[in-house]
Amino acid sequence: MIYGVILAGGIGSRMGNVDKPKQFLHIGNKPIIVHTVEKFCVNSRIDHVIVLCPEQWVSYTKDLLKKHIEFTDKISIITGGQTRNETIMNAIRYIESEKGIDDSTILVTHDAVRPFVTHRIIDDNINCALDGLACDTVIPATDTIVESMDNQIISNIPDRSKYYQGQTPQSFKAKRFKELYNELSKDEKQILTDAAKVFVMKGEKVKLVDGETFNIKVTYPYDLQLAEVLLGGGKDC
Ligand code: CTP
Repeated sequence: MIYGVILAGGIGSRMGNVDKPKQFLHIGNKPIIVHTVEKFCVNSRIDHVIVLCPEQWVSYTKDLLKKHIEFTDKISIITGGQTRNETIMNAIRYIESEKGIDDSTILVTHDAVRPFVTHRIIDDNINCALDGLACDTVIPATDTIVESMDNQIISNIPDRSKYYQGQTPQSFKAKRFKELYNELSKDEKQILTDAAKVFVMKGEKVKLVDGETFNIKVTYPYDLQLAEVLLGGGKDC
């Protein structure tokens, strides 16, 4: 089975003073999370979509998706975790309890707040994970990367051509992620924000999938304005 795992367990603190987590804010005529979930629902290669959100927003999310999306039998809405990776683990626990996991259980994990993901990106992720490789969606770094170990003075300016900006989806076999994640210490789990890093830390290959510059993550109020422009410019969201 191939699962779309929509990560909506955060509260969007960097968005500032808004009455709901950023994934529920509107762009165009629909909440961001609806745009994102629709992409995965209409993709015929995705068997089931699991949406994970903060506990107090589960029933709100159920109502919202029921109102906006036709394919609700393809969607499960459950509680996310304290960290992004714990949210992924909750998806894995849910799959284990409902269907069980085996080597063919693939997760395409995606930020709820990246509504401009394309079917090409989702397909490339699925192909990679089916080949047995974890993968991360990236775009080449455009600005020069400057390193500062003390946050005051430059310690290094690395060769930009070797650097990328991480996006999502990140895709992999559920079983492998669970095995590697469970090998991490409590401290290691705390500092890891990223699923791909679990694989990298454990010495596993993670393949790069080409992202798109417009596959933005809505993080700050400015990104909401940018998302409105992208939507108006015909990015099929
Ligand atoms: N996320 C999640 N579970 C968490 C934390 C984050 O599923 N415990 C999700 C967010 O809902 C978001 C995605 O991961 O869709 C990317 O994270 P980020 O942009 O950092 O979201 P927030 O944590 O909500 O934002 P902030 O850091 O500003 O609070």
